[in-house]
Amino acid sequence: MSKLHVVAVGGSTRPDSSTEVVLRAVLDAAEASDGVTTSALCGPALALPPYQPGAPLTPAARDLVEELRRADALVIGSPGYHGSLSGFVKNALDYAEELRADERVYLDGIPVGCVVIAQGQQAAVTTLGALRDVVHALRGWPTPLGIAVDAARVRIVRDGAVVDEPTLASIGVMARHIVEFARLKSVRLDPVSSP
Ligand SMILES: Cc1cc2nc3c(=O)[nH]c(=O)nc-3n(C[C@H](O)[C@H](O)[C@H](O)COP(=O)(O)O)c2cc1C
Repeated sequence: MSKLHVVAVGGSTRPDSSTEVVLRAVLDAAEASDGVTTSALCGPALALPPYQPGAPLTPAARDLVEELRRADALVIGSPGYHGSLSGFVKNALDYAEELRADERVYLDGIPVGCVVIAQGQQAAVTTLGALRDVVHALRGWPTPLGIAVDAARVRIVRDGAVVDEPTLASIGVMARHIVEFARLKSVRLDPVSSP
């Protein structure tokens, strides 16, 4: 079975970022499949200067760009800030501009699980939509199931682990979606010869 690399990007700078905990849980679930490797760029790894086209990349920014480049699938997570993605996560995604001239432009054709945690239903939903719009702009394929949690109603994380059963179920489905889709993409079909 071919190897797949799944990369998580996002979370917040809070030490106990619930978004990061959920992202890491999706990675763990994906890693349970044979041949899947993972990496996470969360918290301090995303404390990058505002993206400036053409400017030299800092070492951390270079790491992010290289991980985006080698990813067969992504999981992107943002807290809902004022009804949309946090500036911190959006800035990290702006660095995908460095992939515009690659053979695989931006995130072309790769599955992307989208995760949002907010303190209200409205921001959870609007932020998930905004994150999916960004993924579409980068030519990625948001998975059919996104995760949008209103943490004011649901306690999702306790002692650094996801404890809410419906969220755990969604994490399992999202991991399956990204792994299955990435495997389909990795199958190289022989070109069909014309009759
Ligand atoms: C600057 C800021 C803006 C926020 N705006 C909203 C908002 O508009 N709606 C909402 O429901 N929650 C809002 N929140 C709450 C966060 O979405 C919530 O705390 C989130 O779960 C934090 O994720 P984390 O645990 O990964 O840090 C805001 C929080 C901050 C710090």
